[in-house]
Amino acid sequence: MAFNIVVGAQWGDEGKGRVVDLLAAEADYVARYSGGDNAGHTVTVGEQTFKLHLIPSGVIQPHTVGLLGNGMVINPAVLLSEMEQLRQAGVVINPERVRISYAAHVITPGHRALDKAREMARGEDKIGTTQRGIGPAYNDKAARSGIRMEAVLSQETFADAIEAHIEKINQQLTALYNAPPLDAKSVAQEYAGYARALAPYVGDVSTLLAEALESGKSVLAEGAQGTLLDLDHGTYPFVTSSTPTAPGVLVGLGVGVGKTNRVIGVTKAFQTRVGEGPFPTEVFGDAAIRLRGTGDNPWDEFGTTTGRPRRVGWLDAVLLRYAVRVNGLTELALTKLDILTNLDPLRICMGYKANGETLENLPLGPSDLSPFEPVYEELPGWEKDVWEVREWDDLPPQAQEYVQRIESLVGLPVKLVSVGPERDQIIQC
Ligand code: IMP
Repeated sequence: MAFNIVVGAQWGDEGKGRVVDLLAAEADYVARYSGGDNAGHTVTVGEQTFKLHLIPSGVIQPHTVGLLGNGMVINPAVLLSEMEQLRQAGVVINPERVRISYAAHVITPGHRALDKAREMARGEDKIGTTQRGIGPAYNDKAARSGIRMEAVLSQETFADAIEAHIEKINQQLTALYNAPPLDAKSVAQEYAGYARALAPYVGDVSTLLAEALESGKSVLAEGAQGTLLDLDHGTYPFVTSSTPTAPGVLVGLGVGVGKTNRVIGVTKAFQTRVGEGPFPTEVFGDAAIRLRGTGDNPWDEFGTTTGRPRRVGWLDAVLLRYAVRVNGLTELALTKLDILTNLDPLRICMGYKANGETLENLPLGPSDLSPFEPVYEELPGWEKDVWEVREWDDLPPQAQEYVQRIESLVGLPVKLVSVGPERDQIIQC
């Protein structure tokens, strides 16, 4: 039995899919535990590449069962379209292979419309959400007025519940945001169709996992977003509305304390974020283009879900140490080391300066990072192309030094290094 967790150690988009892909080969169950279709995981099946938003990317491995936990918020239209895409690529998708927790919450067009309206109303203070309705759906969950996936099991009452929910949201859209109302009846009708299609997939993920672990099966929990987007532990209020950190696995899948083994934090060799919010090591101009790319390559730093250019900067070891702590990470996976080739010198933020003092850790969490100035350490770069490297010993000494410096700055081993976008461009250390 193994229960391993892969989480993002930064602001999301760390390349978790690569690590999941590798570990899913040995997992019986792959599970998403938080977030919704704000996530975008790029997955390759043979010659085809998909952007999955809801289904755990580990289902590409034919022996796995994919689980969508109670901590998730699910847009049924997106889910059904993902299922169809995967089927067309030859991936078997049926109720034996994909299970959805009865307690996950449903996202509706009402949530999406509210997300958009609220962002517009925030003006300059906008969060920069993905506008997928994530915040409003979790709002309803916390307010105890949400609709859970179990409701699809009774199609008639489900349609009624959706209609009433849209009418309630229409009041907010029109009265508070001067936005057009939605057609409640037609949304209800559309959702009745989704209910029919999804009902066979809905079940008790928590019990299923308990039985699986009891019988010695292996489970891989697949994080979405990242530590610094966590509702409690992220750069609040510029966060998502769920718990992407490792403790969210327990709540979001209904698993008890003490069951988990490895907690793998995935970090890029530099820093990126989409949306608004603090970013102490952010760089601009030519340096930013160098790290981001121009958008010509699929691995350039442009959002998978929204296409927005990502903000980029130097690796921040202060924030990484924080991620180690709040997740209880046991190891790191370092992605995109290849992007640093031909950059000299390289910089890592090892501390923050405030009031003439250098701090190695955050005094009050990461919400307000404005008083801090990053303190950089410079390391030599390398020129050798690392795309073909598969063994640690073949990495240029400067690249080894860079990885080892990260290990010593955060006190954890780096067990995986990726040197390119392809499945095999990975070095196991
Ligand atoms: P929301 O999750 O759509 O409410 O967006 C809240 C914040 O989280 C915004 O800054 C988004 O850009 C960011 N965000 C949400 N999902 C992801 C993700 O999968 N990768 C990176 N950023 C994300």
